[in-house]
Amino acid sequence: MLLRRVLQSTFRAIANRSAPRNFSYTPSRFGGEYEWQDPKSEDEIVNITYVTRDGTEKKIKGKVGDNVMYLAHRYDIEVEGACEASLACCTCHVYVDEEYFDKLPEPKEEEEDMLDLAPVLKPNSRLSCQIILTKELEGIKVTLPRITRNFYVDGHVPEPH
Ligand code: FES
Repeated sequence: MLLRRVLQSTFRAIANRSAPRNFSYTPSRFGGEYEWQDPKSEDEIVNITYVTRDGTEKKIKGKVGDNVMYLAHRYDIEVEGACEASLACCTCHVYVDEEYFDKLPEPKEEEEDMLDLAPVLKPNSRLSCQIILTKELEGIKVTLPRITRNFYVDGHVPEPH
């Protein structure tokens, strides 16, 4: 966790040189059932670009309140999400473009702990199941890492019966 915090504070310091920090409130909408609803108006739309593992950019019209991982699932974008947003894996790991990274609320300690287990960790790493779209994130771009690790499945040693 220490390495990640050092990387993040460095990244934020660099980002803050060019732009003031913006604070935003994000409604809590993480684990549990996710029910898709179409935007009620144009004002609700938040455009997001996913960069897939092969480098393809997929531009999606999300809306305020959408969870970035579940939105990806809706459009068949390959974000795994093994624990269904319960902060028990790192398979929903993404890189958030620098311009938007600093607009996100600080990660919870549980998210930091899971990110520490993610392969190819970068200073702008976040768990996509913990990112909720707001108007402030209009135009956000997230990139899927080359690999993810499902440590429960990958490292699981079955108990003998
Ligand atoms: S899906 Fe497991 S932490 Fe995001």
